[in-house]
Amino acid sequence: MSTWIAKIAKIVVLSLVLGSLYLLAAHKHQQRNDARQRPVALTAACTEKLARYGLAVAEHYSSPYALKLSNKAIKSRGYGEDDVRAIQRGCNIIDDTQGQFAKDIARERWSATRFIRGTHVSCDHCHQSIGDKQDAAGNRLKGSLSLGASWVMADMYDRFTGLLLPFELRQMQCYINSSNGYKPNIADDLIRDVTAYSRFLSAALELKIGQHYDEQGIDEIAASATPKQGDDYVRGEALYKQKCQSCHGRQAVGTVTNGQVVAPALAGPNAWNMQSRNYFHYVSTILPGFICRNMPLGAENTLSNQECRDIAYYISNLPRPAGDRQGPLAALQQQALMTVMPPLMRMTESTRKQGDASRTERAE
Ligand code: HEC
Ligand code: HEC
Repeated sequence: MSTWIAKIAKIVVLSLVLGSLYLLAAHKHQQRNDARQRPVALTAACTEKLARYGLAVAEHYSSPYALKLSNKAIKSRGYGEDDVRAIQRGCNIIDDTQGQFAKDIARERWSATRFIRGTHVSCDHCHQSIGDKQDAAGNRLKGSLSLGASWVMADMYDRFTGLLLPFELRQMQCYINSSNGYKPNIADDLIRDVTAYSRFLSAALELKIGQHYDEQGIDEIAASATPKQGDDYVRGEALYKQKCQSCHGRQAVGTVTNGQVVAPALAGPNAWNMQSRNYFHYVSTILPGFICRNMPLGAENTLSNQECRDIAYYISNLPRPAGDRQGPLAALQQQALMTVMPPLMRMTESTRKQGDASRTERAE
């Protein structure tokens, strides 16, 4: 008799546990669905861009960009309300990855903060101008990591892993290494929305599926493209001080004012990690290419190939997060360096300043 009761009690407890798990999952599902239905509060830059590209709920879409450039535009299938909201959220994610510009991150729900360890990262720091950098005349710029041009490559062969990577996996790689974080699930809204946005960009720019464009990826600079064919830390440091330090800070750990990133970290805990392709000692052609085409901001394309490689070499010798595949020893070493270096540098800086001050006093 008592075993009988125990059996029934067990079944009741089990069904209660499973039932509440089911209800919890259904509740979360509903929450996500509600969030997808909410109108999207766009960042200022996304408001401007999506209006310029004529994103609206309509039966057909034709690109104002193409119309302006060549006086004709293809008429393609338009976007529904769900599509428009996904594209809007995708733009927000690239422009404001960690929700710094959002009035209410929890409500507006486009923040990828939970997938990123540091506080500086925003996708558009590297995928510039929210993924389609152009000059004043509307020409798309070589090596600017365009997301529209990347989307039309669909499944792209990746020479580092030897795999055909779909657009979703390429985003995930960027979360793990360039953003020093964790990968979202492949079906996560963050991934789907950025895919929707990138696809819209390709339509807005009338890019052709399967075609390679110059603005996709990086205009890589190999050592063979420099006269000296050797990269120099000392030259790199001097150049960094002259050309980059005013924005990215003395130790390249970035500048933040009032909680807003003015210039992101190039080293230290908020930067990309040692597993990223931006890390010179892993891939030596990408960071120099990024620097030559996209920096110094406002004076792009002014540095020589050699200068870009020297600066990249210098930056990559500063301490940064190790990345998951470097092992615990490298992680420990980098962590120790990142903790010890900044106060040490500040100390030497203040003693140097005092030295300078006493010298000028003596001179007077
Ligand atoms: C520190 C710079 C940096 C940041 C930050 C960054 N990326 Fe990237 N991303 C790159 C580089 C460099 C590549 C190209 C790597 C290559 O050529 O193999 C890339 C490639 C990609 C690609 C594939 C593009 C292509 O044409 O191959 C996608 C998609 C992407 N990133 C999405 C993102 C998203 C989403 C974020 C924000 C969560 C992000 N990236 C943040 C530097 C960055
Ligand atoms: C006028 C200020 C300014 C100067 C000078 C400048 N940068 Fe930047 N840099 C920025 C800003 C702002 C960003 C964020 C991206 C954007 O808004 O375009 C950035 C982004 C970057 C990135 C993207 C990676 C990341 O951290 O997310 C790299 C790498 C970089 N700069 C390197 C350099 C180097 C090297 C120099 C010197 C040759 C330099 N920058 C000079 C302001 C500057």
